[in-house]
Amino acid sequence: MRVKVKEVGPRDGLQNEPLFIQTEDKIAWINQLSKTGLSYIEVTSFVHPKWIPQLADAYEVASRIERVEGVTYAALVPNKKGLEGALAANMDEIAVFMSASETHNRKNINKSIEETYPVLKEVIDEAKRANKTVRGYVSTVFGCPYEGEVSIERIIAISDRLFELGIDELSLGDTIGVANPIQVQRTLERLLKQFPVEKMALHFHNTYGMALANVFASLQMGMTIFDSSLGGLGGCPYAPGASGNLATDDLVYMLTQMGIDCGVQLEPLTKAAQWIEEKIGRPLTSHHSHVVRGN
Ligand code: HMG
Ligand code: MG
Repeated sequence: MRVKVKEVGPRDGLQNEPLFIQTEDKIAWINQLSKTGLSYIEVTSFVHPKWIPQLADAYEVASRIERVEGVTYAALVPNKKGLEGALAANMDEIAVFMSASETHNRKNINKSIEETYPVLKEVIDEAKRANKTVRGYVSTVFGCPYEGEVSIERIIAISDRLFELGIDELSLGDTIGVANPIQVQRTLERLLKQFPVEKMALHFHNTYGMALANVFASLQMGMTIFDSSLGGLGGCPYAPGASGNLATDDLVYMLTQMGIDCGVQLEPLTKAAQWIEEKIGRPLTSHHSHVVRGN
């Protein structure tokens, strides 16, 4: 069995950091991540800088990183304007995003769910014309900070629509980290009847410390693609209560200990974690980084 770890630290990990990380430092960090065996890095997002000031340097970061062969470099894109930036920086993959709940969708991208589809269609069509692969995120799959529970029918309908629009892979977002392993299995049971397992990914946040348990529950359902952020950095500023992502170092440690190949080496990953820890100026929250610090 082989698991694919998709590093979203430079985007999801940093987007909520209050202290601006210098452009040179972001580039240096991504360059380090590229040499850890990771095969996928989401490097930034081409969103409005007023909404996400930390990533205002998206083009500079994306266009100046050193590309390593075999690594896919992706960027988050909300609309055509964002796509223009991502294409100018020659990103390999475009990630579009929307929410399963109406309120979070509006707070996050200022549109209703229905209004979002044509915008995404335009982005997906144009990205395909430019020979890019497209990933789709659905947020608030396991719960919304404004609306609470989200029905499985709604998640299926949105996923269906996104695949129809042409996405190559769908990432299911537990935006505020409220999923539990049984809920994850029940959700996957329904979704995997309709969508191929190799096109489905999971994106856990770790608010209640359940992300690794949710990964284990998902592995049992045959899932093999997981998004994570080094050191457990992360959170969505438009989702109150959203805390850090599943930590890449904890995920790689667990997979390695279980004898599951993910191709990522813990030693350079640890160095990259220590390096960004210094830049953000506070201790990382992953279990692995606690062990490394000895506290
Ligand atoms: P809007 O204000 O509705 O945009 O924002 P608009 O289309 O009305 O345009 C207003 C102005 O913004 C115009 O400029 C546009 O040119 C400009 P003006 O004419 O006034 O000078 N504009 C842009 N500028 C730069 N880049 C762009 C862009 N688009 C328009 N791409 C918009 C709509 C989508 C832009 C805004 O709401 C936005 O940027 N939202 C991003 C929010 C965000 O990044 N959230 C976090 C990521 S999602 C997440 O974390 C969840 C995830 O991790 C999965 C999970 O955990 O569940 C993926
Ligand atoms: Mg996220």
